[in-house]
Amino acid sequence: MKFSSTAVNLLASASWVLGASLQQVSNFGTNPTSIQMYIYVPDKVATKPPIIVALHPCGGSATEWYSGTKLPSYANSRGFIVIYPQTTHYSNCWDVNNAGSLTHGGAGDAQGIISMVNYTLSKYGGDGTKVYVMGASSGAMMTNVMVGSYPDVFEAGAAYSGTAFACFAGSKGDPTPFGSNQTCAQGLQHTPEQWAQFVYNAYPGYTGRRPRMQVIHGLADTLVRPQCGYEQLKQWSAVLGVSSTKNVTGASVPEGSAYTQMVYGDDGSKLVGYFGQGVGHFAPPNEPVMLRFFGLLS
Ligand SMILES: *[C@@H]1O[C@H](CO)[C@@H](O)[C@H](O)[C@H]1NC(C)=O
Ligand SMILES: *[C@@H]1O[C@H](CO)[C@@H](O)[C@H](O)[C@H]1NC(C)=O
Ligand SMILES: *[C@@H]1O[C@H](CO)[C@@H](O)[C@H](O)[C@H]1NC(C)=O
Repeated sequence: MKFSSTAVNLLASASWVLGASLQQVSNFGTNPTSIQMYIYVPDKVATKPPIIVALHPCGGSATEWYSGTKLPSYANSRGFIVIYPQTTHYSNCWDVNNAGSLTHGGAGDAQGIISMVNYTLSKYGGDGTKVYVMGASSGAMMTNVMVGSYPDVFEAGAAYSGTAFACFAGSKGDPTPFGSNQTCAQGLQHTPEQWAQFVYNAYPGYTGRRPRMQVIHGLADTLVRPQCGYEQLKQWSAVLGVSSTKNVTGASVPEGSAYTQMVYGDDGSKLVGYFGQGVGHFAPPNEPVMLRFFGLLS
């Protein structure tokens, strides 16, 4: 009796040790900027698994972002796969000012990321209608880039403290918090129609559905100003054809902060913003709110 319960414990700890972990993948396809691919495939992967691309902030890495959110633990219970792309260029910031990434089928980090999605869809029989992208700071800027350049790939995105699609276009400085050109991050403004035009120009002739967007920003952010969050809402409201219907204070209270929820359209299912009082850079990811928006959690 005693022996068998020890054996069971040993077995349990062995399977914990041998359980799913973050893995690097090489040779995943076209990769013009030589970025790296990491992936988390849970032990119990769903049939036709949804896929989330999780983009690290500036200075980050796949390993750091793997432990930076609770997505792996939700992957364990929900069976989805998480891709962790990694860049080591520009102080580990994404190339959000690169014309290639701002163009459908162009080169740049964006194309390498799409290769990772293609690889994962084919290797694990993923559900091509359930591919999502999220990120914080530079990763949130790149989230906007991905949904703008590849509306045919992503069902929805969540951007924590980022900037609108093409906000950095034309900036010759590095797209980093130390770069010479901070025009975008300090709150560059355009009309909704101008912002939308950048998105249309990225993929001329595209008339299919557009990714839904969740925009989260701290109101005390001085690195990437809160205005950058409002500019994203202007852009996607024009692209998605939804307008502001209500603002709800105290609707969501992650990490003890007071957030105002900005609802677009009937119910915010296409576009919704969350702006946190006293929240700096970057707003901490709220996995349940994000996964419910994606439709991966009820
Ligand atoms: C990804 O797959 C799509 C559909 O098969 C294909 O059109 C596209 O060229 C692929 N992109 C990359 C970067 O591999
Ligand atoms: C700075 O970046 C903005 C886009 O964020 C661009 O419109 C502007 O031309 C750039 N300025 C310089 C001097 O490069
Ligand atoms: C919500 O707040 C924003 C920013 O203050 C404002 O522009 C918008 O009109 C508000 N929406 C509604 C429906 O009151």
